[in-house]
Amino acid sequence: MISVKSASEEVLPRLLEIEREVFTNPWTFEMFVVEFLNPNSFFTVISENNTPLGFCILRRMTEDEGQLFNIAVTAPARRQKLGDTLMRVALRDAEDAGLMSVFLEVRESSTGAIWLYKKHGFEQIGVRPGYYDKPDEDAIVMQKNIIPGAHRGCRAGGV
Ligand SMILES: CC(C)(COP(=O)(O)OP(=O)(O)OC[C@H]1O[C@@H](n2cnc3c(N)ncnc32)[C@H](O)[C@@H]1OP(=O)(O)O)[C@@H](O)C(=O)NCCC(=O)NCCS
Repeated sequence: MISVKSASEEVLPRLLEIEREVFTNPWTFEMFVVEFLNPNSFFTVISENNTPLGFCILRRMTEDEGQLFNIAVTAPARRQKLGDTLMRVALRDAEDAGLMSVFLEVRESSTGAIWLYKKHGFEQIGVRPGYYDKPDEDAIVMQKNIIPGAHRGCRAGGV
């Protein structure tokens, strides 16, 4: 059974494994703990039969702006709508938090992620040259306006 929940302390080591598997320049355990403890962060995990398969991290940056830092699904579980579900929950959390806008940066080579973001209404608003290393790469900057009421019907805990 698929479940979507806020991250708990005990799943952080497994999420770090997914982070290291998926990204060439992964976050550290300390960075995960900072987000886990931050009351302005929404750290969401998607699991199958209690085995975490992916996660996303959204943080409120200002009164009405959020930043989607991270969304990842372990490779064997991709293309089964888990990323879609994480994104819908993150956007619902953003709406519930009263955010008006969500920003993100993504490697220009991460075409699957860029398609996911476009599908959920993000638009490219700029490029940050050389933003990433390992390997050096530009970041595409994307933004989505949150329309109140548009994301109802998707809560963490159910899909
Ligand atoms: C991006 C990512 C989270 C998508 O997860 P996923 O569970 O495979 O995504 P879904 O099955 O829910 O797909 C949702 C949509 O994303 C897009 N998409 C996802 N993977 C894609 C791919 N390889 N090629 C094209 N489109 C893709 C499609 O629009 C898809 O909708 P559709 O199935 O109706 O066509 C996953 O591929 C991943 O972890 N990638 C590596 C990490 C990363 O780059 N993260 C983003 C930067 S932080």
